[in-house]
Amino acid sequence: MAAEPSVAPMTLTTVVASTRPGRVGRSVADWFTTRAAECDQFESHTVDLRELALPFFDEPHPPALRQYTKSHTRKWSRIVEASDAFVFVTPEYNGGFPAR
Ligand SMILES: Cc1cc2nc3c(=O)[nH]c(=O)nc-3n(C[C@H](O)[C@H](O)[C@H](O)COP(=O)(O)O)c2cc1C
Repeated sequence: MAAEPSVAPMTLTTVVASTRPGRVGRSVADWFTTRAAECDQFESHTVDLRELALPFFDEPHPPALRQYTKSHTRKWSRIVEASDAFVFVTPEYNGGFPAR
């Protein structure tokens, strides 16, 4: 009997959206990443916005042009480019999700 063709796993990126001291979001994201990694369909990893330390508005060009001048922006862009799916673990502050 012929073997089933293998399907490449999707890259699932779980983003820790809280950068708050004392946050619980990191442990929630790590828990989810571990659970998702148990599924053969996913290459699962966590990305922490506190570690990336993206500042506000420090690129001179609109993002749509993809003419990034800063290494942190290029790093984030590579993460986005390499991902097939995202899970955002975000807090709710004052009725909405935070900008960072
Ligand atoms: C300043 C502040 C405002 C908050 N506002 C809301 C809110 O509007 N609605 C809600 O359901 N929870 C609210 N919360 C609770 C947070 O969403 C909750 O504590 C969450 O776990 C925070 O995530 P983090 O620990 O990863 O930062 C608020 C918490 C803080 C500190």
